[in-house]
Amino acid sequence: MKKPDTGDMPAESFRQYGHQLIDWIADYFAAIESHPVLPQVHPGDIAGSLPASAPEQGEAMQDILADIERLIMPGMTHWNHPDFFAYFSSSASGPGVLAELLSGAFNINSMVWKAAPAATELEQVVMGWLRQMLGLPEDFFGIIYDGGSASTLHAIAAAREQADADFRAKGLAGMPDKRLRMYISDQAHSSVEKAALVLGLGREGVRTIPVDSAFRMRPDMLQQAINADRSNDWTPFCVVATAGTTSTTSIDPIAETAALCRDENLWLHIDACYGGAAAILPEKRDLFRGWEFSDSIVVNPHKWMFIPIDLSAFYTRKPDILRRAFSLIPEYLRTQEDGEVINQMDYGIQLGRRFRSLKLWFVLRYFGQEGMRARIREHLRLARLFAQWVDEAKDFERLAPVPLSTVCFRYIPDDGLSEEELEARNASLLQRINSERQFFLSHTKVQGKYMLRMAINNLRSEEKHVRAAWQHICKHARATRDT
Ligand SMILES: Cc1ncc(COP(=O)(O)O)c(C=O)c1O
Repeated sequence: MKKPDTGDMPAESFRQYGHQLIDWIADYFAAIESHPVLPQVHPGDIAGSLPASAPEQGEAMQDILADIERLIMPGMTHWNHPDFFAYFSSSASGPGVLAELLSGAFNINSMVWKAAPAATELEQVVMGWLRQMLGLPEDFFGIIYDGGSASTLHAIAAAREQADADFRAKGLAGMPDKRLRMYISDQAHSSVEKAALVLGLGREGVRTIPVDSAFRMRPDMLQQAINADRSNDWTPFCVVATAGTTSTTSIDPIAETAALCRDENLWLHIDACYGGAAAILPEKRDLFRGWEFSDSIVVNPHKWMFIPIDLSAFYTRKPDILRRAFSLIPEYLRTQEDGEVINQMDYGIQLGRRFRSLKLWFVLRYFGQEGMRARIREHLRLARLFAQWVDEAKDFERLAPVPLSTVCFRYIPDDGLSEEELEARNASLLQRINSERQFFLSHTKVQGKYMLRMAINNLRSEEKHVRAAWQHICKHARATRDT
């Protein structure tokens, strides 16, 4: 087929290769288990197999598609694989993938309403749907950012704006006497501190609060820290509580922290990137009690709601402050409708933004609220089952409560081993588990203890996968004992 003068693909070719690609994806999903979850590559292998420069002449689409199998697949860690139990997995559902395709085709840029009325308004509507599912009140305004790190960065920027409106004009350098401080537990995600670095607060601007025996931030210690800081010329301005910490999925005492923040007039941001999805279950809502009094919340549907990465749902009860922190409108972006619409560029650092709400819309409609609840409930059941197996095994130890769908544990081959010895044994066990590339687990270290993590939040993981993973872990654990 002859290319048009623009050089782009003719419609018929697009149809042909589009069908071919969809067939390839359908087969990929159907046969995902035929691939090992981890690839067998070394650093540099993939780059080394690719040409050093772009081709001078255009290439045939057939060759480009063939190279997916030849050059890309060998370097793929399959996040969609049901045996992916590392980190917090992100799994792409069929409707989510189709929405991604459509979003690419539309290629809208929803910086201002005028440029993308449907995307701007769909985002408001589906963020409202999700808000209701999470049990949050109507005064939470929702906006989508790319990831949890970006959402938290926006929350802290808004908190800084609330702390002193002069920051906007003078910047931190212009206010040397204002020493801002925020508070997180020692289990908070690194993205919070990273946001502090970006926002000029520095690492000294972040104070870490110890946790209790279930790895939850201690409100009494938080109060003490705030009191001490106030009498030492610090200006406390923000607390970030976590609902589902990355290491152990502990949930900070949200209601108590919210009450403290209200009394101290501090912005409360809740990082529920992973855990928030569980709030769509009425029986789990109590874990989040009090989050309706926070100033902002982030939940990542790309973690546990079967939306292809990336999509982070950010909510705030103070959109005007968020807007004050970020809005800067040059003449060329002014429109007639400015007074009556939401222009999304006013609520963040991004100007150009893509049509992410489409995939949330597709997935929520395809699964329905009931379907979403059923899947998340099943993951919670599987985690409880896995925890029970760990508890029943004499040579394993569970190292944290399991409020959500992740289990932290370790192998204890003999009594009397030191922490260092246990770490070495378990690190080598993890290496062995992953080396067969059939299952993928990851680790963490909390209060000096090395732990293996089994995170069960992948759309495709069923009981048979979790059971097989446990057998695989036991087999390797006991083999390390014999070596
Ligand atoms: C609790 C928590 N917060 C924030 C993040 C960062 O999210 P993102 O990767 O979307 O930036 C993670 C990632 O795992 C997380 O577990």
